[in-house]
Amino acid sequence: MQLSPFMQSLGLQYPLFQGGMAWVADGKLAAAVSNAGGLGIIGGGNAPGSAVATEIQTAISLTERPFGVNVMLLSPHVDEVVAEILKQKDNIAVVTTGAGNPARYLEQFRAANIKVIPVVGSVALARMMARSGVDAVIAEGMESGGHIGKLTTMALVPQVVDAIDLPVIAAGGIGDGRGMAAAFMLGAQGVQMGTRFLVATESKVHPTYKKAVLKAKDIDTMVTGDYAGHPSRVIKNPMAKKYVQIEKAEAAKTHPDFESLDELGNGSLRRAVQTGDPQTGAYMAGEIAGMVQEEQSAQTIVQTVCQQADRLLNRKSEE
Ligand SMILES: Cc1cc2nc3c(=O)[nH]c(=O)nc-3n(C[C@H](O)[C@H](O)[C@H](O)COP(=O)(O)O)c2cc1C
Repeated sequence: MQLSPFMQSLGLQYPLFQGGMAWVADGKLAAAVSNAGGLGIIGGGNAPGSAVATEIQTAISLTERPFGVNVMLLSPHVDEVVAEILKQKDNIAVVTTGAGNPARYLEQFRAANIKVIPVVGSVALARMMARSGVDAVIAEGMESGGHIGKLTTMALVPQVVDAIDLPVIAAGGIGDGRGMAAAFMLGAQGVQMGTRFLVATESKVHPTYKKAVLKAKDIDTMVTGDYAGHPSRVIKNPMAKKYVQIEKAEAAKTHPDFESLDELGNGSLRRAVQTGDPQTGAYMAGEIAGMVQEEQSAQTIVQTVCQQADRLLNRKSEE
């Protein structure tokens, strides 16, 4: 597969990132994706620095290939996590960031030769990140699993590509080689996938949650947190329905108290991943869940997606 100079500079065989999913993407999953030639990314989430350091060590022990870490900038432990990443600077190729602006860490990452790639959901944010001096952006549409913006991948990616002079990686709603090829047609240099890796053999997601992803149809996801201002795409389950019911009732009040949802919402992804309980766990997953029908190894996922995309892109250029 043809790689852009930026993707080549990361040392990848395939321009496919595995999203740094909180609670899901540990060192084992990231290493498996990197060993398959993509970019595995450890999800830092809200974990303390020591926990992220353990996952980094696991990845180092399992792969010689480049991998990355996702830093949640709103995490109370963000400084510790950044410090742990910098300690392992020779082993970490990329930092992706969510929920904020990584500007205050850019100089340190640049000095450590680590590429910084924030996730953006709008052109304005992409422009702001480009001005801060990041290396590339991940343009993520609202089809994706987890926290989402307002635009679709199809509309967002080409607008971001036109707006900034940096490599763009497309995310959200990409589940196979057709989606990857389409993202390239929109001007992306690579793709990031999350939902399909939830059910990778190497993923530690609880079997009940995995089964819900595998069983999901196209219309089986919903958005929670819309009223409270932190929309998140999850598979419809009792927990998600209860959450939105309470949220709607609060929104109808003159003085909504969305904090009353904290008890239900806090830790809900962790509970889904660890216990699989549909009453209390948020099964975060994207609309593409309807296409994910098999638990496969990270290697099979990476190879089948990239080979299919390659075939389609070559066919296009031969026509
Ligand atoms: C369970 C889950 C957890 C996620 N956690 C994070 C996260 O902590 N940080 C982040 O930047 N993106 C997170 N994401 C988004 C993914 O990294 C990725 O961009 C997204 O899943 C791509 O869309 P897709 O689900 O349609 O493949 C999460 C996604 C899922 C499904």
